[in-house]
Amino acid sequence: MEAAERVNSAARIGAEKMDEEDETVEEIRQMSGYGGDVIVVGGFPAAESESESESDLAAAEIMVIWAIQGPTSFAPNALVAQSSLELRLDACGHSLSILQSPCSLNTPGVTGSVMWDSGVVLGKFLEHSVDSKVLSLEGKKIVELGSGCGLVGCIAALLGGNVVLTDLPDRLRLLKKNIQTNLHRGNTRGSATVQELVWGDDPDPDLIEPFPDYVLGSDVIYSEEAVHHLVKTLLQLCGDQTTIFLSGELRNDAVLEYFLETALKDFAIGRVEQTQWHPDYHSRRVVLYVLEKKSKRCLIDDSSLNQSY
Ligand SMILES: C[S@@+](CC[C@H](N)C(=O)[O-])C[C@H]1O[C@@H](n2cnc3c(N)ncnc32)[C@H](O)[C@@H]1O
Repeated sequence: MEAAERVNSAARIGAEKMDEEDETVEEIRQMSGYGGDVIVVGGFPAAESESESESDLAAAEIMVIWAIQGPTSFAPNALVAQSSLELRLDACGHSLSILQSPCSLNTPGVTGSVMWDSGVVLGKFLEHSVDSKVLSLEGKKIVELGSGCGLVGCIAALLGGNVVLTDLPDRLRLLKKNIQTNLHRGNTRGSATVQELVWGDDPDPDLIEPFPDYVLGSDVIYSEEAVHHLVKTLLQLCGDQTTIFLSGELRNDAVLEYFLETALKDFAIGRVEQTQWHPDYHSRRVVLYVLEKKSKRCLIDDSSLNQSY
């Protein structure tokens, strides 16, 4: 081999090796309350990632998700108009009318008076997953945290769930109004009620006796101070058969990383890829996680472990 050929060949092999090292191995699993695939973030028994610390797993997830989705912090909500008094959305064969109170956003600490993209994504994901038969909410007990204007809980009730929508005490009036406007006996397969639940406070016994089948939350991971209270409430609401769906907005990597690190101590966490969301309701600023308490056998079957490169 000529010297120049040898150099080229060495360079090619080096580049291939670097490419191989750059490739991330994604572990794919299924969780018991959701039949679609999830990408393992961490906390599963017998997972490759089991030996890594929660902080390493959380940091790795933040690197991956920001690299894949490249969210821009200045991008406005794409799926909701927060200055409008009403959000109209078709879901489950109904035209929903979700009332918003844009001026309340000026009150410090108030965030649930308008809808957020991650709420629309989660609501439409639930509808799409039920239609695709990877999820069934019929007759299931569901608790939603930080319901805000109530779109997600309304969709879950239309899909047959018996839903308790919860929020801070001063957020319940708009929530009740939106339920009355959108859900009535003739159109709802399930049911919806509203209850106060402040994260970190002990939940009313009726919320946990029996434990819910599903806990939902959209855009509830947005403040570092609230993370411990939120995770405490998630733990209090979760039995061995409870599955949590949380959608979040990719605005602040530090807050999301802190949440993942804290939650991974007690929960197995998987990420739902955008290919499994409702095809018309995507956003690079939104991420969707499924959580189950670590004490349970999260796996349907160890053989469902696949690897893709
Ligand atoms: C950004 S909003 C999201 C609202 C709605 N889920 C959505 O996607 O449009 C966050 C929600 O969490 C609620 N929240 C914030 N801190 C809370 C706490 N400590 N306890 C209960 N709810 C809280 C807020 O009132 C608000 O409704």
